[in-house]
Amino acid sequence: MSDTHALLSDYDAEDIIEKDKRHVWHHLLQHKILEEQDPKIFVEGQGARVKDIHGNEYLDASSGGVWCVNVGFGRESMAKVIYDQLLKLPYYAGVAGTVPAAQFADKLTDLLPGLDRVYFGNSGSEANEKAFKMVRQIAHLNGNQKNKVLYRDRDYHGTTIACLAASGHEERRQAYGPFPDGFAVVPHALCYRCPFDKSYPDCNIECAHALEQVIQEEGPDTVGGLILEPITAGGGVIPPVEEYYPIVQEICDKYGVILIMDEVVCGFGRTGKMFGFEHYEVAPDIVTMAKGMASSYAPISATAVRSEIFDEFLSDPSDKYDYFRDISTYGGCTGGFAAALENMRIVEDEDLVENARVVGDYLLDRLGELSDHPNVGDVRGKGLFAGVELVADKSSEDPVGEDVMAAVIRAIAAEGVLVGGTNRSIPGLNNTLNIAPPLIVSTADVDEIVAAVKVGIEKGC
Ligand SMILES: Cc1ncc(COP(=O)(O)O)c(C=O)c1O
Repeated sequence: MSDTHALLSDYDAEDIIEKDKRHVWHHLLQHKILEEQDPKIFVEGQGARVKDIHGNEYLDASSGGVWCVNVGFGRESMAKVIYDQLLKLPYYAGVAGTVPAAQFADKLTDLLPGLDRVYFGNSGSEANEKAFKMVRQIAHLNGNQKNKVLYRDRDYHGTTIACLAASGHEERRQAYGPFPDGFAVVPHALCYRCPFDKSYPDCNIECAHALEQVIQEEGPDTVGGLILEPITAGGGVIPPVEEYYPIVQEICDKYGVILIMDEVVCGFGRTGKMFGFEHYEVAPDIVTMAKGMASSYAPISATAVRSEIFDEFLSDPSDKYDYFRDISTYGGCTGGFAAALENMRIVEDEDLVENARVVGDYLLDRLGELSDHPNVGDVRGKGLFAGVELVADKSSEDPVGEDVMAAVIRAIAAEGVLVGGTNRSIPGLNNTLNIAPPLIVSTADVDEIVAAVKVGIEKGC
């Protein structure tokens, strides 16, 4: 074993914890908490299970914490293709091409009929930033003001300032303003807490029609894009009703609004279809992707567009500003493309989209059995992508507090299962458990997850 490898494998747990506590600034974490407790440190994973530094094993129903390790942990073939590609050519800037970039772009556009051009980056936020820049530049190129992007309440599109400006997660935005102009919100599509106080199906799908009103208020001449998660993820796992997207599509077509579908979480099988939008009658103009694209074995993201959009940027080479003047250094890392290609092979060869559909239906059925519990307000989802909304009181639908959520998630972990939860997202409504295991899980794994969730709710609420 080389010395470098020894550094990674020979360590003392207490020393690592001490180094982590002293130097690592964790994501989305109030570090004061670590004065009382140790951070969770994971050391290995196999299939749907991970092990922490103390040797505790968990069934990871969060797919790496943020629903992204879709093909599961410990895939030797993923490591091997990345290794081989890195030895051959680790990197070349995206202004040029590489073999795996071309191969993966070809594969991806086969999966996305109508979208035939792909722009690569390295995070979901970045993929969305590219889409916003495209909308804005198209307005410039056409000499109009259609540069605003609408977004939906409770949707999340990323961590950068523009992505936060386009995210309906008030708590994530707190204290990071001022935000750039050019973003406006449309209502969310969660029936359980209908923003119009109506009940489906007698609601005229007001949440979808509200888009037209917002476009009118903002000025149809100023609205160029609409970004939506096909099924809201971090905002509480919210699949809109089936009528929602055809109405949205019609309004976008009527007002010439570019429809951007953020498939960062839903994409690549999570919901039981290859892409979340395929559950609905809708045809996006731009699709953004990351997380499950390479199951997070390597960072990579993509912004796929229709040729009409790409063609907007074709002009006489003497025009200095008319092409898409954007570059991401790490959009040229070839390990990500190799990983994405192998990820797709695994998803297809092992029929993981179908597994997500079948085992996902089972998951939702089994979670549905918890609906009688006095603290379970709503169970919803699609595929291996489920949310359990916890309430203090079923009739008033008052949400449980964040302390209760934390206690429930801790109690579930004590049962050997990791789940996520809405986290500093929606004021007063960080009360949905997120369950999104790797797409390889079996019904027996689901039984284990549901049993732990049941115990967690009973103990924590
Ligand atoms: C729907 C959605 N879009 C975009 C992002 C941002 O992705 P990243 O964290 O890779 O920038 C996330 C992250 O959780 C997400 O859930």
